[in-house]
Amino acid sequence: MTTRKHKMRESEVSRNTEKTPPRISVVGTGYLGATHAAAMAEMGFEVIGVDSDPAKVAALSIGDVPFFEPGLPELLRKHVASGRLRFTTDLADATALSDVHFICVGTPQQRGSNAANTSYVEAATLDVARNLTHDGLIVGKSTVPVGTGARLRDLIRDHVPEGVRAEVVWNPEFLREGKAVADTLAPDRIVIGGTTKLSEAILREVYALPIAAGAPVIVCDLPTAELVKVSANAFLATKISFINAIAEVCVAAGADVSVLADALGHDSRIGRQFLNAGLGFGGGCLPKDIRALMHRATELGAFSAASLMQQVDEINMSQRQRVVDLAIEACGGSVLNKRIGILGAAFKPDTDDVRDSPALNVAAALHLRGAQSIVFDPEANDTARRSFPTLSYADSVTDAVTGADVILVLTEWPEFVNADAAELAELSNRAIVIDARNCLNTSAWTAAGWDVRALGRSSRAVSTDVYERESLLSVA
Ligand code: UDX
Repeated sequence: MTTRKHKMRESEVSRNTEKTPPRISVVGTGYLGATHAAAMAEMGFEVIGVDSDPAKVAALSIGDVPFFEPGLPELLRKHVASGRLRFTTDLADATALSDVHFICVGTPQQRGSNAANTSYVEAATLDVARNLTHDGLIVGKSTVPVGTGARLRDLIRDHVPEGVRAEVVWNPEFLREGKAVADTLAPDRIVIGGTTKLSEAILREVYALPIAAGAPVIVCDLPTAELVKVSANAFLATKISFINAIAEVCVAAGADVSVLADALGHDSRIGRQFLNAGLGFGGGCLPKDIRALMHRATELGAFSAASLMQQVDEINMSQRQRVVDLAIEACGGSVLNKRIGILGAAFKPDTDDVRDSPALNVAAALHLRGAQSIVFDPEANDTARRSFPTLSYADSVTDAVTGADVILVLTEWPEFVNADAAELAELSNRAIVIDARNCLNTSAWTAAGWDVRALGRSSRAVSTDVYERESLLSVA
């Protein structure tokens, strides 16, 4: 492209943006895409969400969100009704009607490898590029191995129609499931990588509201933007595995990892978040992202990062085995024919997502050892049943606990944390609870007759409840 041609095109597009706000397409309408599409509509743009799954498009078109995400159904319905948000399976149509194209498709772990499967991102980007009818800004939001953006630029080069200019940039998304709407409407930072002056200006226009509200903007090159996201997740995973490794020392030394985490958290350089010891991390992001980093770092010859991630993964996975071992111990050496009440199936509260859920993993492992695992989750029973149809599912906490030889709290839903310990003790066969998320008020449960066994806290430490811990800390 000549400088003159480039300038001409820049002025063409910028004249357009002065007149009308950019129209937006969002390719892929899972957790990320559906939330992003609704949030863009809330920020005042005309948005078309595209998905190859007609059932998903049909549901979203009438304001139904096919997964549990607090606040999203309301936002989606608001903007389907306002006419600012619509959904289609027709990517060509959506592309022709839009100026900025967000790529929000998944990058799951490849079968038989730690690497991320980028084929959906490649296909979506190529599809958009081929169907451009006017200049388009293709914005990758999916989490990808570093180097993907550059590869996509090469990939589309010969497929963009004559007379049309396409740019590929990266703008990673940091949303958490369960808090996706708030995280998207008010991001704690906006990272844009590989932009020209023009595409940076367009993205600043797209994010004008959060920027005005104070969200910092980091403008960087393409590989840095890709790596920011991967490193953020790698750091969070490392923090969790760190505290779980320290929890092992706590148990061996008779210390209490929860008090220790509170004390560490007061150091502003460390912070208290992501220091909850327990069953460890799962979900659709952290596990596959650290494995993808392991794979990519090895490809790049960055072996320290690869071996650090390997260790983080190993510590995390061993937490699941620890809980299985605690359950076996609680049942006197074997779980065969024991009834085990499993509280929690989702990988964390406020979601029905069971992808790589530590809770379901433990439930299934106990089932394989001959236990009757009775699972209850306030939102994830259906998704769990689809993944593990051979497990039994209860309709309530009381159903799961009734007649149980041991109960396991594997996801820290408020419903479990606030349950009536005395009532549940009456219903259980043997009042033994394994608090795998260190979320129960152990004094209250102990007073109600429960034998409370927690992950990462010696039995002496478990007898000190959260309130006593808080007062100990404040005295100190
Ligand atoms: C994560 C990142 O937080 C988000 O920024 C990114 O965009 C996607 O991946 P998410 O997968 O929704 O988000 O879950 P997150 O809240 O990070 O929790 C991940 C896992 O870590 C959960 O299984 C949770 O139970 C576990 N966890 C979290 C702990 O075991 N201990 C903690 O202290 C915190």
